[in-house]
Amino acid sequence: MGVMCIPGYDHQKPREVPLEAIRDFLGNCQLCPLGQTRNQLVFGVGNPHARVVFVGEGPGRNEDMQGEPFVGAAGKKLNALLGEAGLTRDDIYIANVIKCRPPGNRNPKPEEIEACSPFLREQIRSIWPDVIVCLGNFATQFIMGTEQGVTKLRGQMYEVGHFQVIPTFHPAATIYHPDWLELLTADMRMLGAWLAEHPAPDAGVVPSEVPSATCRPERSAEGADPGVVLSEARSAESKDLLPAEEDA
Ligand code: URA
Repeated sequence: MGVMCIPGYDHQKPREVPLEAIRDFLGNCQLCPLGQTRNQLVFGVGNPHARVVFVGEGPGRNEDMQGEPFVGAAGKKLNALLGEAGLTRDDIYIANVIKCRPPGNRNPKPEEIEACSPFLREQIRSIWPDVIVCLGNFATQFIMGTEQGVTKLRGQMYEVGHFQVIPTFHPAATIYHPDWLELLTADMRMLGAWLAEHPAPDAGVVPSEVPSATCRPERSAEGADPGVVLSEARSAESKDLLPAEEDA
C-alpha cells in the first residue's frame, strides 16, 4: 500500500510532509467513536528533527485535558528515564498509537488502532528518526508488526526497515511492577550507548536510495465515511513505514 494522500504531497519522500500538514489532515477526526468522547485530540509533541521517536499507547486523563502526550504520572517517569539515555524532552518526539483517550483508560480496541495508527506512520515518515522506542505492547506490536509481547522482545534492538527499534516496558507499568524499572533503565542505557556509537549523520538529509511513495486516495479524517476508511487502514502495518517497492 502507499502512504496517505496528504493534500499537496502526492509522491512524498520521508521528511517531506511537515507534521503540521498531518495534524491539519487529522482535523476534528471522527474516524472512530473516541472522537465523540475525547476532550482533546493528542497529536504528539517534540523535536520534528528528532533522532529518537518514543511511541506510547494512548492519552490518559491528563493528556486528554492538556492535549499533550505524557504530561501525567507516566510522563514524569519518562522524563527521569530519558536522562539514562542522555536525552531530554527537547531532543525527542513523542506520540501515541491512538490519538484520543479511551474512556476510563481502557485498552484501545483493534478497530480504534486500525483507524488511528496510519497517522502515527505518517508522523514517523515525517520525522524519519534513527531510533523508535516502543513503550509497551501496543506500540511494540504496531511498530514491529508482531503479536509477541514486550516482555519477550525487550533487552535488544531490532532493525525494522530504516529504523532501529527498541521495544520496552511502558513507564506506567513500573507502578505495578517496580522490578521492571531496572529493565526499562537498562533499555534506556542501551539507547544512550547506541546513540553515542552512531553520531548523527548529516541532519535533514534523506538518503537518495529512499524512494518516494505514491499516495492512495483518501479523504480527510474529518467527516469521513468511517467504514471505508477503516477498511483502507486495515493494511497499515509497520512494514509499511517504508514505501512498497512498486512505489519507487
Ligand atoms: N500513556 C501513554 O501511553 N501515552 C500518554 O500520552 C500518556 C500515558
